[in-house]
This record gives sequence, C-alpha cells and structure tokens, in this order.
Amino acid sequence: MSKRIEVNDLNVYYSDFLAVEGVNINIEPRTVTAFIGPSGCGKSTFLRTLNRMHEVIPGAHVQGEVLIDGNDLYAPGVDPVLVRRQVGMVFQRANPFPTMSIRDNVLAGVRLNNKRLSKSDGDDLVEKSLKGANLWEEVKDRLSLPGSGLSGGQQQRLCIARAIAVSPDVLLMDEPCSALDPISTLAIEDLIEELKQEYTIVIVTHNMQQASRVSDKTAFFNIAGTGKPGKLIEFDETTTIFSNPTVQATEDYVSGRFG
Ligand SMILES: Nc1ncnc2c1ncn2[C@@H]1O[C@H](COP(=O)(O)OP(=O)(O)OP(=O)(O)O)[C@@H](O)[C@H]1O
Ligand SMILES: [Mg+2]
Repeated sequence: MSKRIEVNDLNVYYSDFLAVEGVNINIEPRTVTAFIGPSGCGKSTFLRTLNRMHEVIPGAHVQGEVLIDGNDLYAPGVDPVLVRRQVGMVFQRANPFPTMSIRDNVLAGVRLNNKRLSKSDGDDLVEKSLKGANLWEEVKDRLSLPGSGLSGGQQQRLCIARAIAVSPDVLLMDEPCSALDPISTLAIEDLIEELKQEYTIVIVTHNMQQASRVSDKTAFFNIAGTGKPGKLIEFDETTTIFSNPTVQATEDYVSGRFG
C-alpha cells in the first residue's frame, strides 16, 4: 500500500510563471511529512503536482520527475486518472457532495473509477472506509441522510473516508484542519497518526504545533519576494526543523519571527 515518493529537480509553472523551482525531496512510506512556509510560497502548488492535479489548470505544467515507487507520474502514457486514484487528496474545505447521502459520498470516488459494486460489497466498503476515517460510530445509523447534515469536522472525516475508499497509496492533505475547531482538529490528527500505518501522508499546515504533533519530517518552503519562485529551503526530521534547523530562514519562520 504505502509508497515512496521521490521528486527530482521539479519546476512548477502556471503558463510562463515559475511558481516553484528546483524541488528535490524523498518521502518515505509510512511517514507523515508536513509542508510549512509563508503564504504564496507554493506549498499547495507543489502538493498538487504529486497527483497530477496541478495540470488541470489551463497552462499549468511541470518539468522534472515525480517517482512513486520508482515510476514517474509524468512519463509519457501515464493516465492521470489512475495517478489520482493512487494518490488521494483531501482539501482545506471539506467538500462532500451536499445532496448525496453519506453512503454515496463514501462511494463517489470508487464509482468515478467505474467500479461496479454489489450492494453488499458497497456496504462493506462504506463501513470499512468510515471506520478508517474514525466516523463510523457517529454516522452508522444515518448513512442514507445527506453528507451536508454533518458537522464541519465530520464532513472532513467523510472526505477522508471518500479518499481512502479507493485504496490509495498516498494521501495528500492541504490544510485539512484550517476550518475546524480544536476538538475536530485533534480528531483529524489522531486519525492521521493511525492512517500513517497504511499510507504515505503529506500535509500542508500553517499550524506549527500541528506540524510538530503529527509529522515525522518537515519541509520548509520559502519565497524570496513577489514574483519569485518558491523553493524548498530545508527538509529534515520534524524535531530538527523545530529545535535545531540548519538554515536561518527556517529558524526565523518556526520561531515566529517571520511570516
Ligand atoms: N491557478 C493559479 N494560476 C496562477 N497562479 C497561481 C495559481 N494558483 C496559485 N498561483 C500562484 O502560485 C504561487 C504559489 O501559490 P500557492 O497557492 O501554491 O501558495 P501556498 O504556499 O499554498 O500559499 P497559502 O499558504 O496561502 O495557501 C503564488 O504566487 C500564487 O499566486
Ligand atoms: Mg495553499
């Protein structure tokens, strides 16, 4: 399940604007990696290159390699739809399909992938995914009610259930807790801790406490000024990044002197 991500000399563009330059990073299976850095430095942009979501924006493209267990996502002939099944994504705002039932929300990704499911296989997958997202007990008696009837934290866990229902190898999360209260945030953080047994997880966060609580490794991105490309400045064990970083800009950022 869980897979290794290797990025080699990646440049990320919006048309001719170079948004992120020269990223090299290796992310190990069964780890949680946090991306931190000031607004506009390209965290979301870079994250979306890891499952080929970047290129859905007209003019957006990349140079370089992103290898998942050695296979380049950008090699000719690779189907981006298959890549997105392998590398799932959870967004900042929980985005369940509002009129769809909780059950159908969980199965939405699986159905998009054209998998035909019997009723009982569907039931099993719904239960397994909701248990995996730590939501089952709260919703098992109302699976046929709309997803929009859940609290924000529950909706975010529903989106995580939808993402894991397709059995990805990697889970990307872009500020998954930024719209949540502290209790729901801790619930998601506990869940991330459990999910890392099975998935390679990358999470973008502006919350330094969160990065230090949930991640094994932290990548600090920075930008030299408006119009300049964002860069990966330092990548190391989270404890090192927060206690003894090598680069002064990292130290300034994590200690709150900047950004
Ligand atoms: N769809 C787009 N078209 C053109 N430029 C974009 C697009 N999305 C982002 N950018 C630009 O790319 C750069 C990086 O943006 P990005 O959203 O990746 O930053 P970020 O680090 O995620 O910021 P934040 O912390 O505010 O979410 C910025 O200069 C931004 O204006
Ligand atoms: Mg962002």
